[in-house]
Amino acid sequence: MSIAEKFVAMEYGPAPEDPKEALSWLDRHDRKFGHFIGGVWQQPSEGTYFETSDPSNGERLAEVGQGSVADIDAAVHAAHTALPKWQAHTPHVRARYLYALARTIQKHSRRLAVLETIDNGKPIRESRDIDIPLVIRHFYHHAGWAQLLEQEFPGYAPCGVVGQIIPWNFPLLMLAWKIAPALATGNTVVLKPAEFTPLTALAFAEICQEVGLPPGVVNIVTGDGSTGESLVKHDGVAKIAFTGSTEVGRAIRRATASSHKRLSLELGGKSPFIIFEDADLDSAVEGLVDGIWFNQGQVCCAGSRLLMQESIAEPLIAKIRDRMSTLRAGAPLDKSVDIGAIVDRVQLDRIKRLVDQGVAEGATCWQPKIDLPSRGLYYPPTLLSNVHPTSMVAQQEIFGPVLATMTFRTPTEAVELANNTVYGLAGCVWSESLNVALHVASQIKAGVVWVNCTNLFDAACGFGGYRESGYGREGGREGLLEYLEPVWFKNAPALPTVERTPRQPLNHDSDPSLPAIDRTVKLYIGGKQARPDSGYSMEVRGTDGRFLGEAPLGNRKDIRNAVEAAHKASSWAKATAHTRAQVLYYIAENLSERSEEIARRLAAAVGETQAAAEVSLGIERIFSYAGWADKYDGAVHNPPFRNVALAMNEVIGTVGVICSNQAPLLGFLSLTMPLLAAGNTTVVVPSETYPLIAGDLYQIFDTSDLPGGAVNIVTGYTSQLLKVLAEHDDVDSIWCFADGESATAAKAYSVGNLKQVFTNEGRSIDWFDAKQSEGRWFLQHATQVKNIWVPYGE
Ligand code: NAI
Repeated sequence: MSIAEKFVAMEYGPAPEDPKEALSWLDRHDRKFGHFIGGVWQQPSEGTYFETSDPSNGERLAEVGQGSVADIDAAVHAAHTALPKWQAHTPHVRARYLYALARTIQKHSRRLAVLETIDNGKPIRESRDIDIPLVIRHFYHHAGWAQLLEQEFPGYAPCGVVGQIIPWNFPLLMLAWKIAPALATGNTVVLKPAEFTPLTALAFAEICQEVGLPPGVVNIVTGDGSTGESLVKHDGVAKIAFTGSTEVGRAIRRATASSHKRLSLELGGKSPFIIFEDADLDSAVEGLVDGIWFNQGQVCCAGSRLLMQESIAEPLIAKIRDRMSTLRAGAPLDKSVDIGAIVDRVQLDRIKRLVDQGVAEGATCWQPKIDLPSRGLYYPPTLLSNVHPTSMVAQQEIFGPVLATMTFRTPTEAVELANNTVYGLAGCVWSESLNVALHVASQIKAGVVWVNCTNLFDAACGFGGYRESGYGREGGREGLLEYLEPVWFKNAPALPTVERTPRQPLNHDSDPSLPAIDRTVKLYIGGKQARPDSGYSMEVRGTDGRFLGEAPLGNRKDIRNAVEAAHKASSWAKATAHTRAQVLYYIAENLSERSEEIARRLAAAVGETQAAAEVSLGIERIFSYAGWADKYDGAVHNPPFRNVALAMNEVIGTVGVICSNQAPLLGFLSLTMPLLAAGNTTVVVPSETYPLIAGDLYQIFDTSDLPGGAVNIVTGYTSQLLKVLAEHDDVDSIWCFADGESATAAKAYSVGNLKQVFTNEGRSIDWFDAKQSEGRWFLQHATQVKNIWVPYGE
């Protein structure tokens, strides 16, 4: 091409980044790496290595160790040995180490960017301008948190040794998201990078040596899924933080159910990218390029479902096709390339298979005529139209450069389509009307919503999912809490095991010869008293064995009815916080009015002193949460862009509650009130020891303006009802505060829709001590943070 022709075509010439530094670093290690354990390199115990290669040309880059059970054990041991000294350091000392890590990564940023690109296949433009700068920002930001830890999180302690498992799409960034908050809060770490992309984690290990991080504070063990599994199962690990597929997330939930390991999961997504007719279409198309073709679409929060307002669908698709035709695919080290290589053959085959399946289901596939390199693993940017909302390509995460398009007419329809997914990681809304954009953003069930922008991340803004996209947040205050526990809770004693004598179900319809009944309660569903489906009740006896009354034996059907009623009570979530506060005050007032008779009845089950305390503290507790209802606010973050990020504490939805057996009334109120204050609706299983409290409570609820369905009460055998609640797909979270066995069961049963689980871990909570049983810790679990990013300025 002549200069004159080039001038007209305005084509970029190749601008390759020099990989020399990165390659000579690999050579310095003889292109063979062991694990980084206790501050030194150790050969894999079984002597097994696997290769990592450059997906853009298939060339072998290095061999890395396959981590065995023994390697994981050695790393966990090293992390334990390092723990006391690391925790004994002042926050300032830990802050200095994190600061040194940030500075040193910055110093090596070019080499790290190249290493990331050759190992993963992502364009150097992305690793150089996005991944590595965000890594650095993450360590700086958390150096600050380390310094401020004691001031900002009094009464909290680190979890201990943390196991972290990361994926291959943002290898060093995911490492930073995991290691920075863990160290800032005083934990030590064993991290397993993904098998396709271990190199930057190993370079980071060397940086830990360079800054003199105490040995054992960070340990890196490479390997495949089996290495990850060993880490998950290790008894010495106090918390697992995982990013990856929903399928593996489920396996980890199952594997950790019977332990006390804390768990945070950042899983898949199928995020909506909504464009309204009044949007600036050119900007929206540029946003879309970042939304779905960034990192070849191998992004958990990729805007993979394009929802277009019908009136603009045609011109918009034309613009998108034009723009797709100008995307440049090629060698990832070329600085003028937009689309790099797919990470591995397995992933490429998966993308091809899913697109073929989509076409077989009726989607129309369009790909621009752009040149793809003849060598290496490439897939062209792809547009699938004619996609039915329920089709596989509209529902399943493809994790490739593939956009599925659909249309909508009204904002309501856009929200319905957006939420028509099991996931809830992210969403984008494009509209020049701030009212429409924010109204829609507030209704999208996802942890982050970008308004007129896309794929922005910052260390100050928590990132994480709703629903099957996982739970827990990375970044920000909420991200730190994932690595901290209240000191009292960490030290709380195990609940004593109480022998429960199986009680015979009573069928008083068929047995009129039963003794006189003092009191019979009913179930409470949708604001109405209801008879149990089973027709059976259980007898309730006092501490002295005296027969106190009967409570219905709820079953699967009753729980299902209760969940349905809770779902229908959406007016509670929509009520203003002020209104919710007023209703809670009214409940307290009514409890106060009837306090004497309730305490008298409760005394038969728990003794007079406890009954009186439960009632008076119960009134106080309701007051507390009435106070909290309009004060548990979010935050406004100022990320280093021309944006604000509004961190909203959003309602979780419908929550199943299994009450404690220790304090039938106060336990019930301590769990239900924070959930109500935050706007959740509940299905509550009261204490099995004194379920008759239900009768008093529903009479109070009935007379306190609480909308029917906001609290539903199903009495019965905890173990049976817990199973139904925890397995129910329309229950969004489960709070389980009975015994240790129930806590394990709640976690194990919740894997289906990956609902959030909050339990007492079988530990004793003093419900009479407000420091333990009231306040922010409960409110944090009653809400989930959504960050809405809004740009300002030109
Ligand atoms: P994956 O979930 O299998 O791997 C992620 C990490 O978990 C890797 O380090 C892996 O070695 C480890 N791992 C695998 N099995 C494990 C187990 N049983 N216990 C503990 N750790 C285990 O993801 P994969 O196979 O690499 O990708 C498959 C699909 O997952 C992708 O096509 C994509 O749809 C999704 N994915 C989602 C990511 C996200 O950021 N949400 C990241 C990577 C993949």
